[in-house]
Amino acid sequence: MTSTESREKDAANNAAKHGVWGSDHPIGIAVLGMGTVGTEVVRVIRDHAEDLCNRVGAPLVLRGVAVRDATKDRGISPELLTTDAEALVTRDDVDIVVEVMGGIDPARALIKTALTGGKSVVTANKALLADYTGELAGAAENNRADLYFEAAVAGAIPVVRPLIQSLSGDRVNRVVGIVNGTTNFILSAMSETGADYDDVLAEATRLGYAEADPTADVEGYDAAAKAAILASVAFHTRVTSADVYREGISKITAEDLETAAAVGCTVKLLAICERVTEEGGKDHISVRVYPALIPRKHPLAAVSGAFNAVVVEAENAGRLMFYGQGAGGAPTASAVMGDLVMAARNKFFGGRAPGESVYAELPIAPIGDTPTRYHVNMQVADRAGVLQTVAGEFAKHGVSISTVRQEGHDSGARLVVVTHHAKESALADTVSALAELDSVTSVTSVLRLEGTEE
Ligand code: NAP
Ligand code: HSE
Repeated sequence: MTSTESREKDAANNAAKHGVWGSDHPIGIAVLGMGTVGTEVVRVIRDHAEDLCNRVGAPLVLRGVAVRDATKDRGISPELLTTDAEALVTRDDVDIVVEVMGGIDPARALIKTALTGGKSVVTANKALLADYTGELAGAAENNRADLYFEAAVAGAIPVVRPLIQSLSGDRVNRVVGIVNGTTNFILSAMSETGADYDDVLAEATRLGYAEADPTADVEGYDAAAKAAILASVAFHTRVTSADVYREGISKITAEDLETAAAVGCTVKLLAICERVTEEGGKDHISVRVYPALIPRKHPLAAVSGAFNAVVVEAENAGRLMFYGQGAGGAPTASAVMGDLVMAARNKFFGGRAPGESVYAELPIAPIGDTPTRYHVNMQVADRAGVLQTVAGEFAKHGVSISTVRQEGHDSGARLVVVTHHAKESALADTVSALAELDSVTSVTSVLRLEGTEE
């Protein structure tokens, strides 16, 4: 007997002992989408059928897979493929719908139809959740169905469930993460090998990390959607993508990465969700996504390639760090499958997923009210008095300077000013005034600095 046969026999014996394998109560699964993620989900459902049956208590049976092109060979029985997703989600023998097609429409309507019919839903669709969680969670609640979405944030990394469940007795103050694999892949390659932006983006797309439209990745929309989801569950407040301040990485240059390295930093696209307690004791939150310098010794600085990491700070737990593969078919399928097993167990044993929790309703501060440190890079004339003039503009606008670094001479110098915490509006006014100075040829970049003690 081969080791596989022996494992299968053990599984069958075990299942028979517990009376589950071949149970009269199979759980019917519909999968919407068979692209990067869906292909891996279907593979796991089929390859690990016995283990999944043992873990759930009943077999998971794939009823069908909705795609746009049902004629394409996808290595599964053609009878399982359909272009009629609506008919699939309304089938009586479907208990759980796995939505991995992406986009807003028709995913939103299909999920609502499924939930309204009492079917539980597992989705990886952060773009949809970031704007419609309220509507979808309401449909789940009204119809006693589950809505799970671990895979929507940071691929394989369990972070949504720890926030919703493990930390539900604690008070989360901060969630900071690298939550977009594509941009981290690009920034890592640019800084480690000097690779060209467009070439690395093409490679990220080829590897299945990038969204169907990579603008969502490079302009920070994908990370902003994930930040909205993280902030919602961390702070028990409904946060949508419109509440998230967002900047992408498309303007980051090789020179930015060089100057970052010269000051002992690296550049990362960060998603920052923060609780701020005001003087009177009231809380508000700040949710923002932008590329920022972080010191090389910061735990997030070592996260490279398509890997993601999320640091959570909670009042009693202290600092927790979650790290792993943030994108790609198999890693994302792992998170989807974890949710699918939870939803199937609930179907089998009668449990329920936690619903949406938005009781705190914390106000969300605009970016202009959120002080951060800045790294201002400019080309200046190298002559007496220039430094004083430049420093004077910072002082005039109430922006305090932490360090100044100058390189080059004769034909012009590069001046890098690092500030203490300053408000966005004060910094923007400073930069406008600097650009008007005769001695400043150009302000070449303004990046935030995060992760420092000051
Ligand atoms: P993908 O490779 O583009 O696959 C999308 C699949 O959905 C395709 O099979 C497509 O059918 C099908 N589809 C799209 N619109 C459809 C429609 N109107 N009717 C029926 N089928 C439709 O996408 P993906 O990368 O797997 O991503 C899927 C979801 O997971 C997205 O929400 C994404 O944000 C999320 N996600 C992705 C990753 C990742 O690393 N890729 C990680 C985490 C979360 P055809 O094959 O016929 O075109
Ligand atoms: N496009 C996303 C990324 C996929 O690059 O992180 C994972 O959500």
